[in-house]
Amino acid sequence: MNVGLLQTRKYIRRVGPIQSQQPILGVGVPLKDAEVARLRLIKSNLIYFHKKPIKTQDFVYFPITDPKQIPKLLSDFSFKFQVWEFPSRSEHEPIIETLREEFPNVDWEVISLKFDQLGEIAVLKLDPSCTSLSFRQRVGELILSRSSRLKTVVNKSDFIKGAERVYPIEYLAGEKVWQSWHQEYGVFIFVDLERAYFNPRLAEEHHRVAMSVISGDIILDMFTGVGSFALHCAKESPCTIVAIDINPHAIHALQRSIKRNKLRGNIHPIIGDSRNILKLKGYFNRIIINLPQESVKHLPYAARLLKKGGIITFYQFISKSEKPEEQIRNLISTELANINSYKELYIKIGRAVSPSRVQVNVDLQLV
Ligand SMILES: C[S@@+](CC[C@H](N)C(=O)[O-])C[C@H]1O[C@@H](n2cnc3c(N)ncnc32)[C@H](O)[C@@H]1O
Repeated sequence: MNVGLLQTRKYIRRVGPIQSQQPILGVGVPLKDAEVARLRLIKSNLIYFHKKPIKTQDFVYFPITDPKQIPKLLSDFSFKFQVWEFPSRSEHEPIIETLREEFPNVDWEVISLKFDQLGEIAVLKLDPSCTSLSFRQRVGELILSRSSRLKTVVNKSDFIKGAERVYPIEYLAGEKVWQSWHQEYGVFIFVDLERAYFNPRLAEEHHRVAMSVISGDIILDMFTGVGSFALHCAKESPCTIVAIDINPHAIHALQRSIKRNKLRGNIHPIIGDSRNILKLKGYFNRIIINLPQESVKHLPYAARLLKKGGIITFYQFISKSEKPEEQIRNLISTELANINSYKELYIKIGRAVSPSRVQVNVDLQLV
């Protein structure tokens, strides 16, 4: 039996769909034809990837996006339509399933489909030495097709390079746009992916630091990037922040964000090398050092700029070891050997940044 579309619509209304909060139209095909039908539906991008098919005694029902195309696509099968409450799949399962069909030789051991979302841009990290460009582009298309919030999918195609910490981008799918507004805890951050560093995984730290700022604090953000720490702090408290970055594009992005947010504090963005731009002594209540491959090296300079009782918040990569706290304490005591007294307020072994390195988050107080 080949059910036409008009008939089908009537069928849905008359027989009545299964009532549920999120009913979706499904197309059912006899069990013996299910596999072929599934492949055709996938190829034509007609399946809702985030839902699992439903199997009855004789039929398999696939959740579909556009019934108009079905009569032609499945004309050789006895298909029928019915509305179901299809169960949800885990996030990437449907994409992986599709890719397994289309790229049977891919080594899934070395592939992760996790991506960072920067505003409307998804950033994947697929190693070009393990995947073909057509595979990466297909991943991009599939991710895009499953999200109404994304406009662009790109790949971090290589490691971060240079003082500006910008990574090379490979375009995969969607609009060719590298700038976007990202939101963290109600703070708007202008992201310029191609030209300035930004990492959405630091959102919690941006927020944690902002929550500990006291009204009237004078803060230095030595490696501000697009100004995430500065924006969070100024949104939260009436404080003053000097935000420095050597990359003019990062500072231009920060200037746009300052205009967009309703801030309680004042941010002074400066383009420059923060290692020697300030000659002040004992001036700041708080200094943020986020250049994690070498932050500890800047501790002596920061300690000179800090008021007594002031806090240095810094982020440092260290090698994965049995005793990461000991490792970071040794590094601190070497760098601050000439400083009379400091107190450790907070140490957190944070995210793994590579198989061999982790990031440590530290607050030190000068006493
Ligand atoms: C890890 S990113 C900062 C990220 C930012 N704090 C955030 O949370 O989004 C490091 C930044 O330091 C800047 N940078 C590197 N060397 C610098 C220097 N000598 N003086 C000022 N900025 C520098 C880079 O341009 C980059 O934007």
